[in-house]
Amino acid sequence: MEKDNSTGGNGIGRRSLLGAGALTSLVGVGAALGLRSHTADAAPEVGHLPNEVKPGELDEYYGFWSGGQSGEVRVLGMPSGRLLKRIPVFNWDTAYGWGTTRYSKALLGDSKVGDTHHFHLSYTDGTYDGKYAFVNDKANGRLARIRLDYFITDAITEIPNSQGTHGIFPSRHKRDAVYCNAEFRTPQPNDGRNVDDPKKYYALHTCVDQETMKPRWQVRVDGNLDLCATDYHGKYSMACCYNSEGGVNLGEMIAADRDWLVVFNLARIEKDIAAGKGYRIGKSRVPVLDGRHGSPYTLYIPIPKSPHGVNIDPTGKYAICSGKLSPTCSVVELSKVDEAFAGKIKNPRDCVVAEPEVGLGPLHTAFDGRGNAYTSIFIDSVITKWNIAKAIKGENPVIQKLDVHYQPGHVNASMSETKEADGKWVISLNKFSKDRFLPVGPFRNDNDQLIDISGEQMRLAHDMPAHPEPHDAVIVRRDLIHPKKVWDRKDPHMAPERKLAAKFGVTLEAAAHVKREGKHVYVFMTGVAPAYSLQEFRVKRGDTVTVVLTNMDSVEDLTHGFCISHHDINFGISPQETVSATFKADRKGVYWYYCTWFCHALHLEMRGRMIVT
Ligand code: CUA
Repeated sequence: MEKDNSTGGNGIGRRSLLGAGALTSLVGVGAALGLRSHTADAAPEVGHLPNEVKPGELDEYYGFWSGGQSGEVRVLGMPSGRLLKRIPVFNWDTAYGWGTTRYSKALLGDSKVGDTHHFHLSYTDGTYDGKYAFVNDKANGRLARIRLDYFITDAITEIPNSQGTHGIFPSRHKRDAVYCNAEFRTPQPNDGRNVDDPKKYYALHTCVDQETMKPRWQVRVDGNLDLCATDYHGKYSMACCYNSEGGVNLGEMIAADRDWLVVFNLARIEKDIAAGKGYRIGKSRVPVLDGRHGSPYTLYIPIPKSPHGVNIDPTGKYAICSGKLSPTCSVVELSKVDEAFAGKIKNPRDCVVAEPEVGLGPLHTAFDGRGNAYTSIFIDSVITKWNIAKAIKGENPVIQKLDVHYQPGHVNASMSETKEADGKWVISLNKFSKDRFLPVGPFRNDNDQLIDISGEQMRLAHDMPAHPEPHDAVIVRRDLIHPKKVWDRKDPHMAPERKLAAKFGVTLEAAAHVKREGKHVYVFMTGVAPAYSLQEFRVKRGDTVTVVLTNMDSVEDLTHGFCISHHDINFGISPQETVSATFKADRKGVYWYYCTWFCHALHLEMRGRMIVT
């Protein structure tokens, strides 16, 4: 078997070549900035399977992965890394009929494209409460909510006046808001005015209500906004800004030595919004406050060179920011932010209590609940473990640098973003997999590496190939998630179908009816393995057809599906669920509809004919 010789032996292993390549290709500025490269000082330890979950056993954690360009969210069992589900969000998915069904079309509108980066669950009192999850769409500036009782997307909100909705973070003290960062600055309103005057472009920080999913307010900032975080007390949301320069090309965007961590004072913002202050942009009715330098709403803390990640440690005392082009992490003490807002600290830079060197290209930081931080180091391809208290004391805080393969983006640890960080596992989401898997053409999978952090030294446990491109992941104790196994027939998810059936005097649970209304035909059916309640229905060419199907099986895992040949309709339907979809019958002839989920020994026979005359 081929061994990874990356750090040993001949000295010209794959890692050194990669490091050089990354340096020259990253932005071509590494050398010009005078950044020093660090050498990883610990070889990966491989060969044991500390993450093994034996056949028939269940994982200890749910892993939730954003799906990047795929526009979805993935659910993995952790630590095994077994893929359990892909939840469609902004994408189309024929397994579930996402993009085809009435329910999903109502959420997606005409959109077929998404780009999910940051996934977080709702919190109560500093830890996950298992009710909702949220994920951004950078492509179309949206925020989606997922219900964790059914693992289904149930709301999609377009953020007004925003492009590149990137970092998001929910309130951590209670189920209140989700804060969303616009990464791209645009003219406001973006209606053709000021397109050639980038000085007039600006970005907004948006507060979205978790229950209504409506934007409550927006704050205008200087620069742009990147990753997002909230404190543990409902006092602050915050965002890294990597383009304090307000540039519109690469050279302009990386010119300054320091950009900012922008901290938003939520009480002051909410007070002035309640008092009716704020202006409107274009057609949006969402009130906007001006949070540029000098405003009472914001604090701009200087952070070296294009900061990307901001993460709050599990004690809630510190925010850790990383400058992509500086080898440092900046430790911001949040009690000092209180003092700065109170006017007791004049220079916001005094909120930074430590700035240790951790490696070249630091991005994100995770925590073990024992005072240690784990920072992903993109250019050096390592995870650096370092001690926060030592860094504050001015001692060398670096405990270990572990090679990862290769170029890590996000890093996270089990329960790391909660007050219950348990220090068992770290996941390193590596952007490049290079030689770690069988080659599959020029588009390659990522490599998500699982690291055992239960001991003093990190140990590499597992390589997981990932369909491109998860950006972020959270690892959640399984006892915090309570999914249902069959649908509650009274759930509002199915209310429009129930209303439609009532209009025709049809009971969904006993449906076997074809109803016509002009040129629109409604076909009400049930599915009980292995048969639909209608094995034939007739329509006329040119009719619009709505199929309303109820899965009357109540056995756990007994899913049916409905695909109608040559009509671009295919959806799954889980136990006790009602789903509808609409299509045009535009050709005469016989078209078989059939069950698409293997439900019974006679699954293939579960079908019927649509006869178009
Ligand atoms: Cu029903 Cu297969």
